[in-house]
Amino acid sequence: MSTPPLIAIHDLWVYRGGRAILCGVNADITRGKITALIGLNGSGKSTLLRTVLGEFPYRGTIDFRCGHDHSRPRPDYVGYVPQRLTIDSRLPITVRDLMALTLKRGPLFLGIGRQLTATIQRLLDRVGVPDLLDVPVDGLSGGQLQRILLAMALEPQPELLLLDEPAAGIDFKTQQSFYELIAELNRQSGVTLLLVSHDLTMVSRVAEHVLCLRDGRIQCQGHPTVVLTDESMSTTFGADMRAIGHRH
Ligand SMILES: Nc1ncnc2c1ncn2[C@@H]1O[C@H](COP(=O)(O)OP(=O)(O)OP(=O)(O)O)[C@@H](O)[C@H]1O
Ligand SMILES: [Mg+2]
Repeated sequence: MSTPPLIAIHDLWVYRGGRAILCGVNADITRGKITALIGLNGSGKSTLLRTVLGEFPYRGTIDFRCGHDHSRPRPDYVGYVPQRLTIDSRLPITVRDLMALTLKRGPLFLGIGRQLTATIQRLLDRVGVPDLLDVPVDGLSGGQLQRILLAMALEPQPELLLLDEPAAGIDFKTQQSFYELIAELNRQSGVTLLLVSHDLTMVSRVAEHVLCLRDGRIQCQGHPTVVLTDESMSTTFGADMRAIGHRH
């Protein structure tokens, strides 16, 4: 790999409920590129993302090499779109209110100023949904909600963006434009991306590096053309898995 990694993970062990969930993970997250993390349900993908985020204690090293103190990942530099929403998307509030909740540093009852509204509008423009400012959150489609969540992870401008199955449950056409948006954001801002996905076709299109996790261990990693082959897919997903349809 020619570009030095933004994050170097070495011999990472994470235990939850008395069980080893990640078992000696070694992986590099390349600076400014899109790295995809693939593997079966329960293989430890979300756990790896949340450990990088600083949510779980671990053994081993997660080395952030970005020239400033990253002994604990700081929210200012790390954007995160979780696999599951911890807020109720039926909340009777608008997109503007929801985004203001995460962006505003003071209490919301003091009002949303013109400057904050302009910031929110700029973020909505950036993720391709400029008209959603005053739409109630419970009126959003699945694809629109994912874009809003992505927009919320873009302010302040992150150096690292962690996306946990950001397009799950979205129809294939919307999914494609969502991945195109992610690739565009990466090209425009050079943000480093670590993306969990089950969609190997999309992974082969947007990712430069693929990490394959199986039972908490990295089975293989490398460029999609090298990793998304029949042989390594069988190792990651089991004997019956073939990379049919994911060829370049
Ligand atoms: N609090 C916990 N206590 C014990 N085991 C846990 C806990 N949280 C997660 N696990 C286990 O850790 C393993 C990895 O979970 P994780 O959510 O990281 O998987 P994943 O690869 O993201 O799966 P999916 O594709 O379904 O999202 C699973 O077997 C899960 O049951
Ligand atoms: Mg998960």
